[in-house]
Amino acid sequence: MADVFVVGSINQDFVLKVERRPEPGETVTDAALSTHNGGKGANQAAAVALLGASVAFLGRVGDDDLGEPLLNALREKGVETAFTKEASDAQTGAAFITVTPDGENAIVVAPGANRRLTPEDVDAAADGIREARVLVAQMEIPAESVLRAAEIADAAETRVVLNLAPPRDVPTALLERLNPLVVNEHEAAFLLGRKVEGEEGARSVAQGLLALGPRSLVITLGAEGALVADGETVTRVPAPQVEVVDTTGAGDAFVGALAARLALGDPLPDAVAYAARAGAAAVTKEGAQGALPTPEIVAAL
Ligand code: RIB
Repeated sequence: MADVFVVGSINQDFVLKVERRPEPGETVTDAALSTHNGGKGANQAAAVALLGASVAFLGRVGDDDLGEPLLNALREKGVETAFTKEASDAQTGAAFITVTPDGENAIVVAPGANRRLTPEDVDAAADGIREARVLVAQMEIPAESVLRAAEIADAAETRVVLNLAPPRDVPTALLERLNPLVVNEHEAAFLLGRKVEGEEGARSVAQGLLALGPRSLVITLGAEGALVADGETVTRVPAPQVEVVDTTGAGDAFVGALAARLALGDPLPDAVAYAARAGAAAVTKEGAQGALPTPEIVAAL
């Protein structure tokens, strides 16, 4: 049995460090290319493992040369990958990421095999979901598969954490099972159809987001930390100030850390405080999985 069960995406990341992004129709040169292990689901599973909770990962890779090394890297971190299979005639998911000198990223994903994870595949892993304390999902796999995983988890009293990244329309039947829903300002804005900026903006939409159904809510605010709302209180949790190198995967470090601490028994505000430190640590290094922190690094912040 794993403490945390992650269902989600696994990608090969192709990262271009650029002085600036091209305008439409323009070519920029002098970029530095590097490849990294990524995918929001795989990143979050790796974060859980590095932070000391046991974790299983359900996803799909393609039948190409990229999939197996990505899975091996997860196994080396201690992630159980037996639920993850190859999809035939599919490419492993790939993400094309530009990172500018301020550390900001822009990402285009070719989902490939990630789109092949079906509700039936989730059913086949149901025992693993039921036995876990926490289920974690994101939105780089089909929404109906996320819903099926949440239904199985909820019926077994496994706590459901959904990171609505990238933002997609989701049914109320999914939102109502979340404890918490985790969104950043853009994802919150997507759900409510209005702009959300900074702590004040996030505070003003917290009740509106809770009214959509989740049992609790976390709004991440980047360098400002996060807001935690449970219907009664809205609390801001600060993040330590760090030097930003690359923000790619910081949200995944946050969600993985949150899930690990919830599974290990922390109350939600304490788990969010820990997650905010893990997310801050992740922006101080390049790449997604390669920048994930250990407990020692989190403790030192
Ligand atoms: O959250 C960062 C991740 O988003 C990257 O690793 C990339 O693969 C995309 O899924």
